[in-house]
Amino acid sequence: MAERNLILAFETSCDETSVAVIENGTKILSNVVATQIDSHQRFGGVVPEVASRHHIEWITRCIDQALAEAGVSYDDLTAVAVTYGPGLVGSLLVGVTAAKVVAWAHNLPLVPVNHMAGHLYAARYVGEFKYPQMALLVSGGHTELVYMPREHEYEIIGETRDDAAGEAYDKIGRVLGVNYPAGKTIDEWAAKGKDSFHFPRAMEKEENFDFSFSGLKSAFINTVHNADQRGQKLDKYDLAASFQQSVVDVLAEKTMRALDEYPVKQLILAGGVAANHGLRSRLDHDMQKYHPEVSMLQAPLKLCGDNAAMIGAAGYINYRNGDRAALDLNADPGLMFARMK
Ligand code: KG4
Ligand code: ZN
Repeated sequence: MAERNLILAFETSCDETSVAVIENGTKILSNVVATQIDSHQRFGGVVPEVASRHHIEWITRCIDQALAEAGVSYDDLTAVAVTYGPGLVGSLLVGVTAAKVVAWAHNLPLVPVNHMAGHLYAARYVGEFKYPQMALLVSGGHTELVYMPREHEYEIIGETRDDAAGEAYDKIGRVLGVNYPAGKTIDEWAAKGKDSFHFPRAMEKEENFDFSFSGLKSAFINTVHNADQRGQKLDKYDLAASFQQSVVDVLAEKTMRALDEYPVKQLILAGGVAANHGLRSRLDHDMQKYHPEVSMLQAPLKLCGDNAAMIGAAGYINYRNGDRAALDLNADPGLMFARMK
């Protein structure tokens, strides 16, 4: 029988404390996610100090539960994988420290994982990866197009110059009185409205692969405030639909243009905003129409947000490629893939 590779994976970069046990990089034996959303909602966003304290409270319980649900013990493990960046430094440090302790106490290799590579590998639970590959990674902190000539090699070809897509959703959601994180609700509202406001599509026609969402956010906020001052109430469903159409147009157009320029075999869609129904169906449509030769994997809805299963899948690839961290591994809040020149 082939040897069983079992990875204990940690994810604590933001406001989810998560521990998973992954078999051979593709099978989820457990994926425990303790969310802190309730604690941050009243502040309208993640409060770093509150997040770190939550991680400390939950991390050991998550480890116990992940091992129990998977039906394995520390002795069965092959390696420990952990997100060491990008993210909030205090949050990252809790996961990094826990992973180091387990690695040291049980004499296991420690495998460092980039959180964005983790998001990408959520799609690995849907199907096999083919290279060269392109990924559209859209989350609360990042929006980027990543080119992968081969496994374990990542190059950013375009990214946001200001707000990330998820961040823009959360900020405009706040103006409409939607609790943090607002993306899911705005997505639901968008399905009930129509694009009647025609907000700007920043950088849509520019030759590069970069994004910008702050102009859209300002246009949205000004529209709502001006109406407020006139005592006018705008239709929240149309506002949501108009905002979403603008985001989706830009993301889809830039992605199609990236595929025109980079002949790849596969497109990956991942990150928190990859859960967006408008974006998923638009990419389905555009890929059929403009790039039927490229296969697409969209991260499963359940694994779009932060979780340790995705870190375990990426950790398996890193393990196989020989990535090892020493016990002095530190959190790297600004960790990024290299930018292609
Ligand atoms: O990847 P993620 O869980 O955390 C980061 O690494 O940033 O992404 C969270 C972001 C939040 O901004 C949230 O509002 C957004 O993903 N999000 C969505 C949807 N579900 C979550 N945005 C748009 N549509 C959704 N359905
Ligand atoms: Zn994330």
